Amino acid sequence: MISDASEALDIPVIGSLNGVTNAGWIDYAKKIQDAGAKALELNVYAVATDLDESSVEVEQRYLDVLTAVKASVDIPVAMKLSPYFSSVANMSKRLVEAGVDGLVLFNRFYQPDYDLDALQVTADLNLSTANEIRLPLLWIAVLKNRLETSLAATTGVETHLEVLKYLMAGADVTMTASSLITKGPGYVTTLIDGMTRWMEEREYESVEQLKGSMSQSAVADPSTFERANYIKILEKNKAEYTLAG
Ligand SMILES: Cc1cc2nc3c(=O)[nH]c(=O)nc-3n(C[C@H](O)[C@H](O)[C@H](O)COP(=O)(O)O)c2cc1C
Repeated sequence: MISDASEALDIPVIGSLNGVTNAGWIDYAKKIQDAGAKALELNVYAVATDLDESSVEVEQRYLDVLTAVKASVDIPVAMKLSPYFSSVANMSKRLVEAGVDGLVLFNRFYQPDYDLDALQVTADLNLSTANEIRLPLLWIAVLKNRLETSLAATTGVETHLEVLKYLMAGADVTMTASSLITKGPGYVTTLIDGMTRWMEEREYESVEQLKGSMSQSAVADPSTFERANYIKILEKNKAEYTLAG
């Protein structure tokens, strides 16, 4: 697919490699590079359910996979992260130190539901909504300008507004899967047209001008991204919450 796509398209094709352990990654990474991919995204899709595997061991797995793949290919390598590290910031920093070229925030693990009539675990396609951008948005805004790496946003891009928000937080790239699954690949044009209109109306001259303009390091009050803001919100709405019991 990568080789066909690379030949057919004028845009760079990026390979995506998913796995759990260290085995098998290297061969495929090399094959993806040889097929013409201009970059590679690694997704260590492992839900850490083993009671005896420590957080240090889980984190080391990501670093080991990255180090092994980086040593075997020349193209840039990005890593798609889980939002569930104790310290997303420290994990990101260590991946950058280990040579990652980009961080993709975040992987969206499949979370099962139950069908109470059939008494079965449901196997449905749970597509994302725009409400889910807040977690990646927070972390992109926090990490922007603090690490020497590209940042890509994934989850919840339903319209051009989510693309704009992610760019303003500091994303170099925004991705969308769910919207293309429901609306088809042509929907990318709608997103770009919406962005262009929005930017023209507000006299933005380039995407570069948008990028990171509302990151934590750029806003007047950086505490808006942290707990202090939560306390402020509760204080402001105290009367309302008290009345509501
Ligand atoms: C049907 C489907 C298949 C997916 N397959 C992969 C995959 O193979 N590798 C991967 O890294 N992410 C995969 N994802 C996750 C998406 O890349 C993306 O991270 C997630 O859907 C959140 O982005 P969205 O809100 O744009 O859908 C898949 C998502 C869906 C809905």
